[in-house]
Amino acid sequence: QEDVFKKIVSHCKEYGYVFPSSDIYDGLGAVYDYGQMGVELKNNIKKYWWDSMVLLHENIVGIDSAIFMHPTIWKASGHVDAFNDPLIDNKDSKKRYRADVLIEDQLAKYDEKINKEVEKARKKFGESFDEAQYRSTNPRVLGHQEKRDALHTRFAKALNDNNLDELRQIIVDEEIVCPISGTKNWTEVRQFNLMFSTEMGSTSDGAMKVYLRPETAQGIFVNYLNVQKTGRMKIPFGIAQIGKAFRNEIVARQFIFRMREFEQMEMQFFVRPGEELNWFKLWKEQRLKWHKGLGFGDAKYRFHDHDKLAHYANAATDIEFEMPFGFKEVEGIHSRTNFDLSQHEKYSGKNIKYFDPELNESYTPYVIETSIGVDRMFLSVMCASYCEETLEGGETRVVLKLPAALAPIKLAVMPLVKKDGLPEKAREIINDLKFHFNCQYDEKDSIGKRYRRQDAIGTPYCVTVDHQTLEDNCVTIRHRDTMAQERVAISELNNIIADKVSI
Ligand code: GAP
Repeated sequence: QEDVFKKIVSHCKEYGYVFPSSDIYDGLGAVYDYGQMGVELKNNIKKYWWDSMVLLHENIVGIDSAIFMHPTIWKASGHVDAFNDPLIDNKDSKKRYRADVLIEDQLAKYDEKINKEVEKARKKFGESFDEAQYRSTNPRVLGHQEKRDALHTRFAKALNDNNLDELRQIIVDEEIVCPISGTKNWTEVRQFNLMFSTEMGSTSDGAMKVYLRPETAQGIFVNYLNVQKTGRMKIPFGIAQIGKAFRNEIVARQFIFRMREFEQMEMQFFVRPGEELNWFKLWKEQRLKWHKGLGFGDAKYRFHDHDKLAHYANAATDIEFEMPFGFKEVEGIHSRTNFDLSQHEKYSGKNIKYFDPELNESYTPYVIETSIGVDRMFLSVMCASYCEETLEGGETRVVLKLPAALAPIKLAVMPLVKKDGLPEKAREIINDLKFHFNCQYDEKDSIGKRYRRQDAIGTPYCVTVDHQTLEDNCVTIRHRDTMAQERVAISELNNIIADKVSI
């Protein structure tokens, strides 16, 4: 699975999806650029989300708030004081790690040990192997499981109590070594704030320390009354936003899974106090439906309901997606109570209560938040779509089975040969269709090679223009996933493609 992930990462670079940022300067940690294909896929993901929120719901509108915000906002939201990661340094390698991630990796090692035992037994017993029975009785498996459970309980408690000494003690007791130096020479654990800061205004004026927003949500909270009043919105209503967020992540790994500059798609849904848990349930279902709508298979998703809730939340869940490196959070859904709005009321000194005309009373609305990372969604789409196939005759092909609606290029048009008026006819087709779909013209190399190139970038349709086309105005259309080919009239192309690229 790790090998597959490596292949996906290099595929992203080779075909213009994702490049390391500042590539010719050897990159910048956990920062990435999207190439000519990547930007199209990313825009299509954003459109899929935006339309599902803003177009399909009469009571959800969008905004685009600034990245810089008044610094007191981050005090009010709790980010200045509590948006921290616990860090630990190895004294020999001088490398810095997230203490919680070191312990999570240790938990994963126990899982690996258990899985190895299970796989060994499966091979040994073959058909008659009863996995559940083996897991519950084998002494070696039970031994690992017991240690894993004890570690998990201790770790959860340390996190809950915010006990940094205990986190360090776990690392010492588990004899966790630095992956670089291989030693167990650890410093104390310290808190490290994840927000990037910079200065606004010239120093002679007295510059103001400002932050690059670590989430887009606060831009929605501080604007909610502007939007409600100017848009004449009535509770329940939602505000959606797509935009960049920045976090000085210490553990930069797994490609675009955890980045320092990334994009979020967030929607805050404002409801009456007391009704929030019903709305939470509804949004939970809605959001899972949205993910499943892409057709990657229901088994790829699961909820992870939080036992430990942040102080501002009264319910929280993650939607996890099965990446090659395990089930991972792609989206968070939180019932955030009236915490954020109350805090902004307190810190700004302004009355930002909502007047409910039906109840004839004012109150601070409760909020359900759905928050998804564009880049994580992008990664999940790439991982689910990447496919290596062996064809009849032993030839292999790499194909990105992207949902047609998300594919960067919908249609490639290829003249069979570069002469006899075929290129001109191909261009004619593109000129008709390019206002509706992203089309690509390709005349280089054999048709087989051209198909492979389009498979690798995920183009759902290829159309070949041949000599017959000049006589009957028909072309051969080839379907990416089945590789089936059929002869269709040029005049039908628009309908055939439009039918498939809408969700
Ligand atoms: N406003 C709530 C909020 O920001 P979060 O769980 O911290 O919640 C929401 O982030 C989503 O943003 C995550 O589910 C993930 O998809 C994405 N995300 C968070 N940090 C990220 C990072 N460093 N790189 C890429 N995506 C990230």
